[in-house]
Amino acid sequence: MPLQPNLIERFLIRRGTIPPLLLDLGMSTFQVWLFLGAMEIGFFKALGDGPLDVPALADRTKATERGIEMLVEALEPLGYIERTGGRYRLTKATRRSLPLDLLQDMAPFFKAQVMAYADVGRALREDPEDGIFGWEHVQSGEVGRSYQTAMRWLGSQTVDEVVKKVDLPDGARRMLDVGGSHGLYTVAWCRKYPDLRGTVLDWPIGLESARKTLKEHPDVADRIDLVERDFEEEDLPEGYDFAFLGNIIHGLGPDGNRELFGKLARATTERGKVALVDQIGGVSGSKFARGVAALAGFNLFLFSGGRSYPFADVQRWLSTVGFDDVAQTSLRQPGFSLVAAQKTS
Ligand SMILES: C[S@@+](CC[C@H](N)C(=O)[O-])C[C@H]1O[C@@H](n2cnc3c(N)ncnc32)[C@H](O)[C@@H]1O
Repeated sequence: MPLQPNLIERFLIRRGTIPPLLLDLGMSTFQVWLFLGAMEIGFFKALGDGPLDVPALADRTKATERGIEMLVEALEPLGYIERTGGRYRLTKATRRSLPLDLLQDMAPFFKAQVMAYADVGRALREDPEDGIFGWEHVQSGEVGRSYQTAMRWLGSQTVDEVVKKVDLPDGARRMLDVGGSHGLYTVAWCRKYPDLRGTVLDWPIGLESARKTLKEHPDVADRIDLVERDFEEEDLPEGYDFAFLGNIIHGLGPDGNRELFGKLARATTERGKVALVDQIGGVSGSKFARGVAALAGFNLFLFSGGRSYPFADVQRWLSTVGFDDVAQTSLRQPGFSLVAAQKTS
């Protein structure tokens, strides 16, 4: 949660009296490490069962009391926790928004990413095709599994809204979830359409996450196939009435996306439909929503050489390979858009 300046402080920030350097470089960086530290030691989860004092928190998280004092002092004004008597508890907003059970597992990925981003100057000067983090870091190991946990959380935030908003073509029998990871979208569409079969396509580490999901959703698990494939290096399987790209295009360069959309055209049937969720750049909306999309785009530029693409680019890629009626809708999650298109002939 960002620091919340009061009215006078907001005025002083806008005037430049409170220096942006203090906020954007100092406070933002300190806050990243504060939050990462809390994630890494399981601080939020430790408070999940109710209020604790500093010694009990230190005991639960295997941290020192001085370390915990440092954490609680800064997390309280940020709005994550509140003090009651001598103990601390999670605020309602924290309980509602933080995935307490997943946070500790997500820490290795975010930490590895933040460390790699120290090379940001080189990224800006040289614009390396694969960014300065690179997909190879998330294809295996602790960081890869941690990345998949973060994707599970990300997917859980938008899956219900997206699946509710996207109707599949009449009589659709097969759907393909490209880079489907956890497979939560495929599970939800299979539940919405009892005659649908789904395919989740990903690297082995993504399918490991999908297998976990299938165990948790036995009612649709027998209608979902897992296909291990690299969608950049190999062709897609064919014969699908519907294909979905959840947070995929922002991780590829323009050429990679053009190629992927060509593969999607071959993978889908005559009246096939495509939907994607991504952070579409340059959309109208509040500065906050535009800021989220733009910062997510900057992150992808560093991560893998991607970005938040403008709608016009996505529309062109889709229509060039035969998908028409391209429509964009903003999702409740600020900065996230849904784009859908269908072949008309
Ligand atoms: C940003 S995550 C999106 C996960 C999910 N679609 C969602 O929206 O929540 C990207 C997924 O694509 C997979 N992926 C990335 N590049 C890939 C490639 N070239 N071939 C196969 N899978 C890939 C990753 O393993 C990861 O699971």
